[in-house]
Amino acid sequence: MKAEDFILKNYNSSVESGSVKWESPSNIALIKYWGKKENQIPENPSISFTLSNCKTITKLTYTKKETKDFSFDVYFEGEQNEAFKPKIQTFFERIEAYVPFLREYHFKIETSNTFPHSSGIASSASGMSALALCLMSIERSLSVVEVTDKAFYQKASFLARLGSGSACRSIEGELVVWGQNESTESSDLYGIKFEGEVHSNFNNYQDTILLVDKGEKQVSSTVGHKLMFGHPFAQQRFAQAHDNLAKLKAVLASGDLQGFVKIVESEALTLHAMMMTSMPYFILMKPNTLEIINKIWKYREENNSNVCFTLDAGANVHVLYPENEKESVLKFINNELADYCQNGHFITDFVGNGAQLIEN
Ligand code: DP6
Repeated sequence: MKAEDFILKNYNSSVESGSVKWESPSNIALIKYWGKKENQIPENPSISFTLSNCKTITKLTYTKKETKDFSFDVYFEGEQNEAFKPKIQTFFERIEAYVPFLREYHFKIETSNTFPHSSGIASSASGMSALALCLMSIERSLSVVEVTDKAFYQKASFLARLGSGSACRSIEGELVVWGQNESTESSDLYGIKFEGEVHSNFNNYQDTILLVDKGEKQVSSTVGHKLMFGHPFAQQRFAQAHDNLAKLKAVLASGDLQGFVKIVESEALTLHAMMMTSMPYFILMKPNTLEIINKIWKYREENNSNVCFTLDAGANVHVLYPENEKESVLKFINNELADYCQNGHFITDFVGNGAQLIEN
């Protein structure tokens, strides 16, 4: 597929109004996307677990209008929200060519998250994927030809990517690959459900998110990606991501949990190493992030455990572990890690199946 193939050509303009509602999950990358080209094209492939509990729920109400500008209102958790508008305006500008009915309607966007707003959990992946899915449902009802499920999800992921890169991995489950590579079926334009073999060791994999720092990040992902331009280690890093994806594919098939731990933790630390070695350099980890990492290493060593950590672009720690260690690891988190979280706050989650239509 090329980008042009996603342009909606024939549609029925006589639909006056309607509404649609989707819920869409967050995701956690195992191989990290860090660095992008123009038009949200990733510099390297990434793969993520789709989550279950951390979700955005978005209702989109559309009403035909006469003027030809973009027109939308945003309500977050029931209250009108101006702060989200610029990001949505940029999203609309990027996707307009593919969704030509955008200027024909006024949109009321009502959105909320299942996780606390100021938790430091990026809501852009779940938020942008939920909005992209709502727009796709409208497209489906206006389209004069039948839109297959495959085409629907592919374009939803394509649109979500233009909102936020990692959002393209939040449409389906349980593992999603994004970015051209030699090991899996893939595209730079949208995420694809990983269809390789996955050992039962990875069934219902657990992710407990330790909320170390709930504040606003000092450096946004968008700025961080840009700092990979001219980064002294960029090319080696991009090559490493390809290599790690090939290795992870073999690990997923064989059920090699120790191999999984090595790749996933190395990816997390490499991501942060890229931040620390860019110009300007920055550090998003906090002292408690490091305390937690050391505790996890000690626990793993002493208990013959396969628990490991990963990080996204922030100080929070995702604790990943197999379902059969759920009881023991949760005890460890409660007893030894919760103290390092802001107000002792953490969120228990696990791998999920992707977004769901709530109302059409
Ligand atoms: C560290 O998808 O938030 O979480 O495309 O600029 O919106 P934009 O960036 P974003 O970057 C996420 C980076 C990451 C790694 C990952 O999810 O793969």
